[in-house]
Amino acid sequence: MSFRLQPTPPARPNRCQLFGPGSNTKLFPKMAASAADVINLDLEDSVAPSDKDNARANIIEAINTIDWGTKVLAVRINALDTPYWYRDVVDLLEQAGDRLDQIMIPKVGCAQDVYAVDALVTAIEHAMGRKKKVAFEVIIESAAGLAHVEEIAQSSPRLEAMSFGAADFAASMGMQTTGIGGTQENYYMLNGEARHYSDPWHFAQAAIVAACRTHGILPVDGPFGDFSDDEGFRAQARRSATLGMVGKWAIHPKQIALANEVFTPSAESVAEAREILAAMAQAKANGEGATVYKGRLVDIASIKQAEVIVAQSELIANVS
Ligand code: COA
Ligand code: MG
Repeated sequence: MSFRLQPTPPARPNRCQLFGPGSNTKLFPKMAASAADVINLDLEDSVAPSDKDNARANIIEAINTIDWGTKVLAVRINALDTPYWYRDVVDLLEQAGDRLDQIMIPKVGCAQDVYAVDALVTAIEHAMGRKKKVAFEVIIESAAGLAHVEEIAQSSPRLEAMSFGAADFAASMGMQTTGIGGTQENYYMLNGEARHYSDPWHFAQAAIVAACRTHGILPVDGPFGDFSDDEGFRAQARRSATLGMVGKWAIHPKQIALANEVFTPSAESVAEAREILAAMAQAKANGEGATVYKGRLVDIASIKQAEVIVAQSELIANVS
């Protein structure tokens, strides 16, 4: 235990982050009209190298002209090992208006990666007299990113969220997988003849959640590639929610409702959490630190678990 209180993450709904390539302008109004909490206009891996300049101009125009409502509006810039990222930052900060909320930095491997972008963003904000400070989200999607996840989590006061990118992570780790996230057919234990599938993403996700919770940042699960597999998406999202993540990316509009469903606490779970809080209030009034709820022990730790669910549901209710 620490005498320091765990910092509270930003109070914003982040159940679904919808992605769209910066080169595909016809998607932008559909993204703005969607039910996603966060929009990620992409300059990175969904945009061909020959199209980077065009995509950057498209995104700047879209930020300045489309009504994005109350969504968190973010742009994924190119990674720091490319020749594109500085131009992404310069053009966005010089030409996009204050509606831009957040820059997403992919393939972050160490705290200095974030520091470098912060230095450039800070200088341009000063030079341009920008009033609103742009927030950051990083993607942990490499062996180095995971090895340095805790230093990355405290790399900048701008950092509000951290996503896990399964496909690039798998490649960087040398994992023998294809597909983006979800169940991997060779990752199983045998019990007699029966195969029990395990979760190869668990360690990385839990490490990300721990780093985020330690430093008051929102942990988010990244993409699930097979957008025809609703149950596969649900299962992956439920595991992420169980581990403490607050949301998941959508790479197709079909996935938005699924993410919102999983990351919005159900009416039953909120009702049960409120009953546990009431039972514990009664126990406290009786001078007891523990009591029995539906045949099981609840104690002071149960209050904190129940408060997580109630707080999340109130946050979402306040914005929708
Ligand atoms: N956001 C909003 N709307 C989208 C969308 C998105 N990301 N992707 C597709 N749509 C729309 C389509 O325009 C189409 O609209 P319509 O019914 O008005 O014609 C509808 O949803 C159905 O689309 P569909 O035909 O099933 O898909 P597609 O072949 O047009 O596009 C993808 C498939 C995967 C290429 C596309 O969804 C996409 O570009 N996704 C984002 C990829 C990305 O950003 N990757 C980076 C992060 S990993
Ligand atoms: Mg990636």
